[in-house]
Amino acid sequence: MNRLEAIVSLIDKCDILADIGTDHGYVAEAAIKNNLCKKVIATDINKGPLNSAVSHLTEIGLESFIDFRLGGGLTIINENEVDCAVIAGMGGELIAKILEESKNVSKTVKSFILQPMTNIDILRKYLYYNDYTISEELIVKEYHHYYFIIKAVKGSSFCEDNIFYEISKYLFDKKDKLLLEYIKRAIDINSKILANLNNSKKQDNTIKADKLKNKNFKLEGMVKAYEDKRNN
Ligand SMILES: C[S@@+](CC[C@H](N)C(=O)[O-])C[C@H]1O[C@@H](n2cnc3c(N)ncnc32)[C@H](O)[C@@H]1O
Repeated sequence: MNRLEAIVSLIDKCDILADIGTDHGYVAEAAIKNNLCKKVIATDINKGPLNSAVSHLTEIGLESFIDFRLGGGLTIINENEVDCAVIAGMGGELIAKILEESKNVSKTVKSFILQPMTNIDILRKYLYYNDYTISEELIVKEYHHYYFIIKAVKGSSFCEDNIFYEISKYLFDKKDKLLLEYIKRAIDINSKILANLNNSKKQDNTIKADKLKNKNFKLEGMVKAYEDKRNN
């Protein structure tokens, strides 16, 4: 499964879907073609990407199913207008900002499919602190890059350790194999940074190094939990 297929696979059948930051319009296309919704509100903050969605979806004859809107985030969506919203291919911090700036709208959306390109820890932390539950999550790998696709619904959840902002608790509980690969890679990257910090003589590096050591300790504990599960 690739990134786009994973995003689409998490969309529940609904009446109206919003595709926020539609760009080429591929999510909207897949949602209509797979009968996942009756209509898509395809939005983008920039004219160029929105125009490419208009061209593409018109060319393939789907324009009558799409309401194209120019504007930022959920500011151009009305309260109770959409059942599900996809916000994919943007930074995690921006996705959190979009949810926060239009709380009146976001609280009326039944489910969000969120796919951050960066800062996933900021997004997961936002979800934990703002009464969302991650009801499903997928990890996919494309060209050496790992993507996480989150389905978030209303309902509070408890985060027992900060490491779960960075590492998906949902996928860890399922002992997802690709997540294990991701965790091991994170340990390697942290170890290389630690080695560089230890070689440098700067004083404030000690704090950074301690944080990284602590993180790697937790990550190694996670790897061990996978091994224990395999041995049981
Ligand atoms: C990399 S593309 C992702 C396209 C598609 N969602 C996907 O995942 O394949 C990001 C798009 O988000 C749009 N964008 C960035 N900030 C936005 C915002 N605040 N509201 C709506 N769209 C935004 C950009 O113009 C761009 O077209």
